[in-house]
Amino acid sequence: MKITKTQFLKSSRTVETCPVTGKPEFAFVGRSNAGKSSLLNMLAGKRKLAKTSSTPGKTKLINHFLINEEWYLVDLPGYGYARTSKKLQKELLAIIQDYLVNRQNLWCLFELIDCRHKPQQNDMLFLRWLGMNHIPFAICFTKSDKLSSQKLSASLDYYRAELLKDWEILPEIFITSSVSRTGRDELLSFIENMLKQNTLN
Ligand code: GTP
Ligand code: MG
Repeated sequence: MKITKTQFLKSSRTVETCPVTGKPEFAFVGRSNAGKSSLLNMLAGKRKLAKTSSTPGKTKLINHFLINEEWYLVDLPGYGYARTSKKLQKELLAIIQDYLVNRQNLWCLFELIDCRHKPQQNDMLFLRWLGMNHIPFAICFTKSDKLSSQKLSASLDYYRAELLKDWEILPEIFITSSVSRTGRDELLSFIENMLKQNTLN
């Protein structure tokens, strides 16, 4: 799929104040600093569409970006940044979970996980919560440029084995890098197929 037009629409503090669009939405979630905003920019083909930062905790609102005037990419705040207050962590998680449970036009969520890290309890619990709430999701392993192909495949094998302790079937998994643009075609095709299938139904 070619991205021909991108447009920032709105930042919202709560799901109630999100724009009423009725258009399909694909959202990025994950721990703080996992690379959500960077991946969104990489997919959109615009370096500064969503704000990124080397300091975790940058994105604190629900950000809507209209793509090709047809569908939305949504940049969500990160969860689990230990160096903010427990109160703020709770608030951010509540914003994310409220959006995920109540946003009717969310077609698929992408859970982003930094491929360099061992499985973390908060990610595993979050994935379990997604399952319990029947939220359709895929996993994107981010920052693949930071590992050699050998280390990357060992890290992914380990992750898959951990996931299989919780899940009978693995979700769709993408390997991505916002630096080398790895995974861009695959992710855009995945989104394009979902859009096509649902217009056929
Ligand atoms: P929060 O909004 O704070 O939750 O973070 P985020 O998940 O949106 O992460 P963001 O995209 O802001 O990126 C965090 C840091 O990781 C930045 O310094 C990015 O430049 C870096 N980064 C993101 N993706 C990649 C990647 O694919 N490769 C490399 N090498 N660095 C990346
Ligand atoms: Mg961000």
